[in-house]
Amino acid sequence: MRPSIEAIGGLALIVGVIALIIFVAVEATLIYSAWHYRASRMPGPAPQIAGNSRLEVVWTVLPAAILLVLFVLMTGTMREIGVAVAGGGTPAGMRIVARGAQWWWEYRYPSSSGEVVVANELHIPVDTAVDLDLESADVVHSYWIPGLGGKTDMIPGRTNHLRLYASRTGTFTGQCAEFCGVEHAWMRLTVLAEPRADFDRWLAAQSAPRSAPSGAGAAGERVFTTNLCVSCHAIRGTDAKGEAGPDLTHVASRTTLAAGVLKNDPAAMRAWLADPQKYKPGALMPRVPLSDADLDALVSYLEGLK
Ligand code: CUA
Repeated sequence: MRPSIEAIGGLALIVGVIALIIFVAVEATLIYSAWHYRASRMPGPAPQIAGNSRLEVVWTVLPAAILLVLFVLMTGTMREIGVAVAGGGTPAGMRIVARGAQWWWEYRYPSSSGEVVVANELHIPVDTAVDLDLESADVVHSYWIPGLGGKTDMIPGRTNHLRLYASRTGTFTGQCAEFCGVEHAWMRLTVLAEPRADFDRWLAAQSAPRSAPSGAGAAGERVFTTNLCVSCHAIRGTDAKGEAGPDLTHVASRTTLAAGVLKNDPAAMRAWLADPQKYKPGALMPRVPLSDADLDALVSYLEGLK
C-alpha cells in the first residue's frame, strides 16, 4: 500500500498533463486562426461549416472519451485511498474515531482495556493503514493533514471516513480547514507516526488510569475534583468524568496545550489555567478563580499526569 497523497498526486499529474495538452491545442488553434484568417487577408464573411458531421462526431466523442478515462482513474484512486471504506471496501489495519470540537480534537482508540481517549495529538504506527471515523461535536470542521491524506469534512450527525497512511516516521501537521468559529485558526492538527513498538508502548501507557499523585500532586487532584474542572474534563482513575473538554488522564504526555496555542510545560500550564481567555479568546474554557497555592498544586498535579 502507498500513502494516499501519492495516489492523489499521481492522479493529479495525469489530469494536469491532459489539461495541459488541451490548453496548448486550443490556444495554438486560436492564435493560428486569428492570424491565418485575419480580415486583411480574408475580407468578407467567413465560410460557414454548420452540419459538418465528421467535426460533430470528433468533438463529441473526444471529450466523452477523456471524461471516461478520468472517471475510471478517479474511482480507482478513490477505492485505493479508502473513501469507499464505509460502503464495504477493504477494512484497514486500525480504526480510530476522530472528533472535531470547538476548538480541539479528540481521538478514541479501541483497546483491550476499553476505549483510550486522548486529545489533539494523534499517534499512529508507521506503514499501517489507519481508518479515521470523522465526527463532529458541534459545527462543521474539516480534517486535513496535507502530508498524509486528503481533506474530509467532519459533519455533525454523520460519520465520514478518511484513511491515513504514513510511510515514514515523523511529525505531520495540519489545520482545521473549515471555518468553525473564532478559534478556528487554533485547531492545529498533529500526527506522530511512530515505529510499531513505540506506538504500542505509547498506547499501553495511555490505556492506564492516571498514576496516583502524592504530595503537592494529591492536593492538586483535590483542587481539580472540587472545582468546575470536573464538569468538563475526565481523568481516569478519579471521579472526573466530564466530556465537554479534553480528557486529561495523561495530559503531561502531550507537547502542547489548547490545541497548539502553548507549549506544554509547567509555566505555560500555570498561565493557561490562570486565564485561558488571554491565550485563546472565545475558547469554551472559563477562568476558574483559584488561590495561588491551589493553582500551584493544580499545575504540579496536571504536569505529573504523564
Ligand atoms: Cu474547526 Cu475550523
